[in-house]
Amino acid sequence: TDQINILAIETSCDETAAAIIQNGHTILSEVVATQIDSHKRFGGVVPEIASRHHVEQMTQVLEETLTKASLTMEEIDAVAVTEGPGLVGALLVGVATAKALAFSHQLPLIGVHHIAGHIYANQLVESFKFPLLCLVVSGGHTELILMKEHGKFEVIGETRDDACGEAYDKVARVLDVPYPGGPHVDKLAKLGNDTLNLPRIYLEEDSYDFSFSGLKSAVINTVHNAKQKGIALKKEDIACSFQESVVEVLVEKTYRASVEYGVKQVVVAGGVAANSRLREALRERFNDPEVTLSIPPLALCTDNASMIGAAAYNDYQKQAFRGLDLNANPGLDL
Ligand code: KG4
Ligand code: ZN
Repeated sequence: TDQINILAIETSCDETAAAIIQNGHTILSEVVATQIDSHKRFGGVVPEIASRHHVEQMTQVLEETLTKASLTMEEIDAVAVTEGPGLVGALLVGVATAKALAFSHQLPLIGVHHIAGHIYANQLVESFKFPLLCLVVSGGHTELILMKEHGKFEVIGETRDDACGEAYDKVARVLDVPYPGGPHVDKLAKLGNDTLNLPRIYLEEDSYDFSFSGLKSAVINTVHNAKQKGIALKKEDIACSFQESVVEVLVEKTYRASVEYGVKQVVVAGGVAANSRLREALRERFNDPEVTLSIPPLALCTDNASMIGAAAYNDYQKQAFRGLDLNANPGLDL
């Protein structure tokens, strides 16, 4: 048949994930085994623990993925895996598993960049229209990426210091909420007001770059100064003020870039794309019927393997297959 089923694996951080994606856009099955509870008490992901959990979970996750789709390996056309960036030990588990499957079942092997995966999560919802602009906001990345065709990524702006999700997680620590902090800050912010007058960091007028470390310091200083003066700041207001500053700059730069490059579609990707205020503010700002705004459903914003299978389909069509010498590359460029 001409149905192409790609078995995809993602183990770059703390989720052991597998999925079967048909023709790059339809999820036949998807399994994500999260390790969040194992890392919580350390306040962040412990790489060694992540690798060990991937080893323990991987085959179960694969079996469940095949069972859920009622497919056997004989009905799989290619194996795709995240090759980087990410934690090297974690990536290696996925890469070794994918290679073993490709070798034993004589299947083509495809290596996928983790961020290309996040971007292609949107293809599971809606076909791409080029030129396309993508705002990538995750725990490790904050970038504005221009795409003129499938598989080609032009970075027009990026963070000069912390990633957006990283800033969320650091502010979460100030607020004393558990890891991963982003969703907790999001929830608190809904109950607060933008009262702290935090700076909006736009950098140079024409720049599409971002900076979050100054904002993070401003939050820490404001909380510290208030404490010294004996003023009790509400956690909800701190969260809301931080979030308003982050979201305003993200949305404004994305909007400006979309106009400058005359894009037909704007997509959002990465864990912070799950943020309720960011989703709302983007919907308000992009009300031009000529520009399609795509915001993936929550489950496709955070790490998963469906996005890897979606991104891999282009490589399948181009027959851009990889040898069994494929290796994990923690610093892989897009
Ligand atoms: O893409 P992702 O799952 O993993 C990486 O590849 O980094 O992103 C994780 C990041 C974390 O920093 C987490 O705190 C943040 O996404 N995040 C959020 C929300 N949900 C997850 N940040 C703000 N608001 C949210 N609702
Ligand atoms: Zn990610």
